[in-house]
Amino acid sequence: MSNVKFKVQPGGTIKGRIRVPGDKSISHRSIMLGAIAEGTTTVTGFLEGDDSLATLRAFQEMGVSIDGPEEGNVIIKGVGLKGLKQPKAPLDMGNSGTAMRLMAGILAGQNFNCELIGDASLSKRPMKRVTEPLRLMGANIETSENGTPPLKITGTGERSLQGIDYILPMASAQVKSCVLLAGLYAKGTTCALEPAPTRDHTERMLNGFGYSVVSEKQGAQKTKVCLQGGGGLTARHIDVPSDISSAAFFIAAAAVSKGSDLVIEHVGMNPTRVGIIDILTLMGADIQLENAHEVGGEPVADVHVRYAPLKGIQIPEKLVALAIDEFPVLFVVAASAEGQTILTGAEELRVKESDRIQVMADALQAVGIDAQPTPDGMIINAGKQTAQQSEIQSHHDHRISMAMTIAGLNATSEIVIDDCANVNTSFPTFIKLINQVGMKVDVV
Ligand code: S3P
Repeated sequence: MSNVKFKVQPGGTIKGRIRVPGDKSISHRSIMLGAIAEGTTTVTGFLEGDDSLATLRAFQEMGVSIDGPEEGNVIIKGVGLKGLKQPKAPLDMGNSGTAMRLMAGILAGQNFNCELIGDASLSKRPMKRVTEPLRLMGANIETSENGTPPLKITGTGERSLQGIDYILPMASAQVKSCVLLAGLYAKGTTCALEPAPTRDHTERMLNGFGYSVVSEKQGAQKTKVCLQGGGGLTARHIDVPSDISSAAFFIAAAAVSKGSDLVIEHVGMNPTRVGIIDILTLMGADIQLENAHEVGGEPVADVHVRYAPLKGIQIPEKLVALAIDEFPVLFVVAASAEGQTILTGAEELRVKESDRIQVMADALQAVGIDAQPTPDGMIINAGKQTAQQSEIQSHHDHRISMAMTIAGLNATSEIVIDDCANVNTSFPTFIKLINQVGMKVDVV
């Protein structure tokens, strides 16, 4: 792919009323569950980004008839839990950790062999976190020597997987979801105990497809989620809300630029995803949630952000998993708040599409901000972005490309961001919308 660069002009005031594309996590899951359900699932608001399209294509390659996406509409003719066919070639998950880790759970329960591969970024990401529980369930699944992709899965043949009671070593919705999806194919009960709340879209959607998943709180932070193997899913309609992780760039943009007033409509407000709202509110942001209602088991609202002066904070660790994808842009916000912001307990950021602690510390330093990486977070001392003509590397990470675009609002000179085609993985309309609300960003 040719090198796409963003040239970000400094300054801007953010105004308007916009809608951002569908939620990536829910879009992936709508295809996965629709494909293994009985009957026809219809989806509206599907994210037409490279990540969710990788999931869609993978199921087509396993014999599932899927029409669309066309303006966010998808029609999936479910083949039932046992109806997938062996793909002819390795399934390419592109940049998407969610696709690879969740599909590993589904594929571990099939009676055919297959292989999952990914791009340069995904090929470096840890996969033992899913292969370990799957092996405990009796799956035959291999990673490379380093514990990274490709994943090679040998079919279960006549055996079936065995349910487990798994204690997650880290707060990861991807690992939890992988174990639960494999649990559909396992004998008996499968449970995942999470150390802190993580996004619960898999549980909500399984329940929506008529497959009972029981969640039980254990103390203040832990939740145990269980299901019985051997049931069936019933097709349904899924209305995908807008992705709060995409809205986050615009919420942040309006929060840091003087005079801004922006409404983002129909944003998913699942309580396991709203850490960004809570963190920005603690920093002093003026954010109102309007028109709150529910679509298909997921809460949504319009997010109204008006500029207000922000101050640095110590980010509460209990909010980390609830804002895990938002830290690149939260670091940018911290750079223009008053005083110091400290993040701890976020070592998972080091194994996202890039090492988001190191890459963002380097990027902020390049624009003249005092940002010190720590093993599990960052210390940012807000200041003026004084650097002249900075050139930033995205490191194959869409959220770095978009976060550093937002940094342009408080820059004094142009920021050039290298390797930005990756924005298409989650937010193909980002450039159109960011220019529409008041920034000036050219794609070259
Ligand atoms: C996701 C879970 C998160 C998140 C990712 C999407 C999901 O990963 O970072 O972008 O859809 O389940 P972890 O669960 O590994 O933290």
